[in-house]
Amino acid sequence: MAPRKIIIDTDPGQDDAVAILLALGSPDEIEVLGITAVAGNVPLALTAKNSLMVCELAGKVDVPVYAGCKAPLGRELVTAEHVHGKTGLDGPTLPDPVMQLTEGHAVDFIIETLRREKSGTVTLCPLGPLTNIATALQKAPDIADRIAEIVLMGGAYFEVGNITPAAEFNIHVDPQAADIIFKYGGMITVMPLDVTHKALVTKERNDAFRALGTPVGIAVAEMTEFFERFDKEKYGSLGAPLHDPCVTAYLIKPELFKGRFVNVEIETQSELTMGMTVADWWGVSGRTPNATFMGNIDVDGFFALLTERIGRL
Ligand code: BDR
Ligand code: CA
Repeated sequence: MAPRKIIIDTDPGQDDAVAILLALGSPDEIEVLGITAVAGNVPLALTAKNSLMVCELAGKVDVPVYAGCKAPLGRELVTAEHVHGKTGLDGPTLPDPVMQLTEGHAVDFIIETLRREKSGTVTLCPLGPLTNIATALQKAPDIADRIAEIVLMGGAYFEVGNITPAAEFNIHVDPQAADIIFKYGGMITVMPLDVTHKALVTKERNDAFRALGTPVGIAVAEMTEFFERFDKEKYGSLGAPLHDPCVTAYLIKPELFKGRFVNVEIETQSELTMGMTVADWWGVSGRTPNATFMGNIDVDGFFALLTERIGRL
């Protein structure tokens, strides 16, 4: 089967970086048409730079990387340096990128790519706030029917929130954008905290990355070592949660994940619960299902895949 064409929309972020590396290490299953950076974990200038650094780390310098939206649709940007460090990619010492951003705006690249490629063949993979994708849909509503699927990391049901008591970071940062995505009318697959908080890098798993002995394996080990401190202190977790790699792992091995096709709506009014993903897990609302909301992951299978693919780079 031909590899699945994707656009990765991202705000690296150590876990975004690992998600990108997993995709770039899996060319038989995934063709990365481009990477679009968005403001999120850190401001846009840094997420764009970090995207370039990750491509260079992987040795994939031909992947076009575009800068996108600087701020959410209707709110001030909230960032997460307290989790990811000042650069967003704290941990390893990576060289400044030689690669340059491709000219043009990320939103235009998303629109043009969806219009150029055969309808129903391009999957969008948002790993950060949904500003770029929502802006593309606002600017060019015709692309909605051309999207194969949106597979995103965001939201939570049982785990409720990480940035506020009620909301997950990516959705909270731009709830208006998330609302547009969840109403776009096509296929959506969601990797919420309910799944990603199970994808924990234990010491043993981190040792396996390091034992690859390659610059990529060692950088991944150093990234996860850096950002584990936040979740360890806050939740008492065993290690860093690999949120965003759940998205790219799903494209390669969907059987690693289990979920339910349910209605998901986004809170956009209440400051108290802003960005909450109201997932009708128990089917009590009577509202029409619009998303496959994942709830479980085969964690050992996930880390076996990740370690093997990181090892290919
Ligand atoms: C999400 O927020 C970011 O900090 C991570 O990169 C991930 O995309 C988890 O809530
Ligand atoms: Ca992210």
